[in-house]
Amino acid sequence: MIGSINGFSKLNKEEKINWIAKTYLNNQTAVVDLIKQYWNADEDLQKLHDEFIENTITNFYLPLGVAPNFLINDTWYTIPMVIEESSVVAAASKAAKFWADRGGFKATILNTEKIGQVHFMYKGDKQKLQAFVQAIQPVFLADTFSITQNMQKRGGGILAVELRDKTQEIADYYQLHVTFETKDSMGANFINSCLEQMATTLKREALSYGAFDAQEREIDVVMSILSNFVPNCVVRAEVSCPIEALASSEIKDPVLFAEKFVQAVRIAEIEPFRAVTHNKGVMNGVDAVVLATGNDFRAIEAGVHAYAAKDGQYRSLSHASIENGMFRFWIDLPLAVGTVGGLTSLHPMVKIALQMLQKPSATQLMQIIAVAGLAQNFAAVKSLTTTGIQQGHMKMHLMNILNQFKATDEERIKVVAHFEQHVVSHSAVVELLETLRK
Ligand code: MEV
Repeated sequence: MIGSINGFSKLNKEEKINWIAKTYLNNQTAVVDLIKQYWNADEDLQKLHDEFIENTITNFYLPLGVAPNFLINDTWYTIPMVIEESSVVAAASKAAKFWADRGGFKATILNTEKIGQVHFMYKGDKQKLQAFVQAIQPVFLADTFSITQNMQKRGGGILAVELRDKTQEIADYYQLHVTFETKDSMGANFINSCLEQMATTLKREALSYGAFDAQEREIDVVMSILSNFVPNCVVRAEVSCPIEALASSEIKDPVLFAEKFVQAVRIAEIEPFRAVTHNKGVMNGVDAVVLATGNDFRAIEAGVHAYAAKDGQYRSLSHASIENGMFRFWIDLPLAVGTVGGLTSLHPMVKIALQMLQKPSATQLMQIIAVAGLAQNFAAVKSLTTTGIQQGHMKMHLMNILNQFKATDEERIKVVAHFEQHVVSHSAVVELLETLRK
């Protein structure tokens, strides 16, 4: 059958590409050459990247940019950002400079607890189960000791093992709800290894627990896995200044600006359609730093959006207020990130990104990421409530349009000069290029 293959993973890289070229790309040698053009000439470096995942055929470039001038808790940072959207780094840099002139960003860790669960079925007396889980607490700790001992030396480990009764929602369903401290690692492997051992312990100990009858002894574990919802691993980032201090070359009327800004944030707090886009702007900053520092952006995305909906309605992650003449803008973000383990010591660009950030601890990285999110959100809401978003966005997008139409250097200079004075739109750029090419 065309398009289906057995043993694909056994083929070497060249053979994989040839199969794809034959099956989907009309055997075009130019396309095969292009795929290979993205290989790194340094074979060891390429091998490192090949082995991150299965069936690698080439590399997929995204730009790594930097946003300088971030003053966070009185320390200067240049923040590395991996992102394809043209205006994000520029917006972050602009917001950084704006707030550096007004005291900078403050960031505080509210808590750092991670969560994992063993989901299981138990048919029997609830009180007996409660007593059993209580009785085997020391066994959970002893059985996981080989996994937790290094983490304990770093000040982390298992914090608590709690039995949760979920039988109202699903008959016979219970959880071991386990909390962890994982210090500078994101902790996914550590948590999952602990949970799988705890599941084994749970089943094994039940078999010989004297108070259980035959049915109660047969605990059925459904699964053991960390939760990416981390409502107790939260960082707060904030900026504030007297309203008049908001005045700038772009903000002529700071009172009006502050009032409109607060209104816009309030709308995102109560209106889910706006909240999702508002939070997308936050994630422009968050994801870019999460990627640059080799962290798991899917975990962060899932956790952050769950947090935005934690009271049952999806809401803005950031908040703004005007009180006693002070403008304040802040965000609370649940961020389970690591600065050791995973890709952090493997990916050469991640290593450099972390060096650039002065080798942060996980909690410092949480602060930096939250600040990047808040800065991005500030820049977006500022544009939206003043000039509108397209002005800045299309200016940055101009280069993409010029690349798309393979503009020459001479054309670029002319087009860029023209759009210093005119509003950028896709059709206006194309029209100008066509005129120049006539
Ligand atoms: C675009 O990537 C992000 C914005 O839509 C965010 C927002 O609307 O707040 C500009």
